[in-house]
Amino acid sequence: MQTANLDTTDLDVVIFGGAGDLSLRKLLPALYMAHVHDKLSAETRIIAVGRQTWSREEYCQFVNTHSPAFIDEQALDSADWQAFLKRLHYVSVDVTRSADYQALQSLCKQARLRVFYLATAPNLFSQICTELHACGLVDAQARVVLEKPLGTDLHTARHINLEVARHFNEQQIYRIDHYLGKETVQNLMVLRFGNAIFEPLWRAPYIKSVQITVAESVGVGSRAGFYDSAGAMRDMVQNHLLQLMCIVAMEPPISLDADDVRDEKLKVLRSLKPMSLADIKRDTVRGQYTAGASGGQAVAAYLEEAQVPADSRTETFVALRAYINNARWAQVPFFLRTGKRMQQRQSEIIIEFAEQAFSVFGDSAASQPNRMIISLQPQESIQLGMMVKEPGSGMRMQPVRLGLDLQQSSDKRRAEAYERLLMDVIKGRLTHFMRRDELEAAWKWVDPILQGWSELDDKPKPYPAGSWGPAASSALMARDGLTWFEES
Ligand code: BG6
Repeated sequence: MQTANLDTTDLDVVIFGGAGDLSLRKLLPALYMAHVHDKLSAETRIIAVGRQTWSREEYCQFVNTHSPAFIDEQALDSADWQAFLKRLHYVSVDVTRSADYQALQSLCKQARLRVFYLATAPNLFSQICTELHACGLVDAQARVVLEKPLGTDLHTARHINLEVARHFNEQQIYRIDHYLGKETVQNLMVLRFGNAIFEPLWRAPYIKSVQITVAESVGVGSRAGFYDSAGAMRDMVQNHLLQLMCIVAMEPPISLDADDVRDEKLKVLRSLKPMSLADIKRDTVRGQYTAGASGGQAVAAYLEEAQVPADSRTETFVALRAYINNARWAQVPFFLRTGKRMQQRQSEIIIEFAEQAFSVFGDSAASQPNRMIISLQPQESIQLGMMVKEPGSGMRMQPVRLGLDLQQSSDKRRAEAYERLLMDVIKGRLTHFMRRDELEAAWKWVDPILQGWSELDDKPKPYPAGSWGPAASSALMARDGLTWFEES
């Protein structure tokens, strides 16, 4: 098979799990946006692979019914959408049956750049890669995108990595963490490394603590079947929260080349202080939502969600205190928190700077620590909490916030994470994807915590849907004389 000189104009994006939730809600809308903004060549085909024995027309009909709801209304144009549907192809494959790959092989036989997006259960990754290789579809330029969860622990993650590596080399493997594709997350790198004023302060002892919160107001909904075997630690902390922490804490990379950035993130993960059983007991909180209210509507408890066993101990909330044992961050606590059915959707990073050693305004002055509040979603903003003089006689202080609304700061379109990352795959840019050793280092830190929780054999703490999590989460901060940002 000839592979030389392929470029992104001769492109097949092959999506395994093409009729699944992720494809309908994220991947196809992202590809549609790329289509509308002329980022896909006229020749680009999108080949969905699914179990259903559908014709191409039936698949297009299915996509037409389910995907438009996930596309920004203003971008949805009927002529564009019809033109986009023309790019779609469908192949019915039971991925566990070698013979079924024949149809895919005939459709993909031309020499083209192939991107295989595996949006299936991870236990199928190995077989899919083996079969693709066996039918000659894996050439030197082919790329494979692995959707999370990549394993359920270090052992299974290593197994997946090993199996995929039998057919694709590391430069061809794109382990996706969609948080790395978010505009605000990428902006963190520019904030840190593009502004000279922060670097001298971005360390102990000038930073007192860091909070990273990814709160969701939604429950587990139709994903309960998957979620109950994962829980918030595997679903969110092991990947999204640790990746955010890496970007906040990493040393400046020597360049933006993929390996230079990933080397620095790996060092952060390797510096995480392992947790003993005593640490786990003291520094982690697991919660599970009970009935409550969300957006003014009564909502059911986790244990009442369809497909959740009545005695499930799966955590829908995690808060923990972590330490990075290196010269920059020694003794600075990093508080990570995530949960479903929390009071509101809110992802933010709070950098709390150390207080002044001495205040000329005296002890009674109402001083507050300087904080940098980086809101990732739904607002996209950076605010700096400062003290100014309260107008009037005397020298009283009052807190104010200097604010930058990132959405208003430019007229340029802000692409969604999946669109940005898919375009990175097509262009062969690996910087915003996890390398094998990074993924394994993250599991290496998380595994003992999961293990510890099962040894402690206690239930997650209940918290009402619509709250900020169990009271123990506030107590975790209070021990260090701190509060979560929304409590301050
Ligand atoms: C996914 C998790 O990776 O991220 C989901 O599996 C979670 O449980 C989602 O809801 C959150 O993503 P976002 O972009 O909506 O914050």
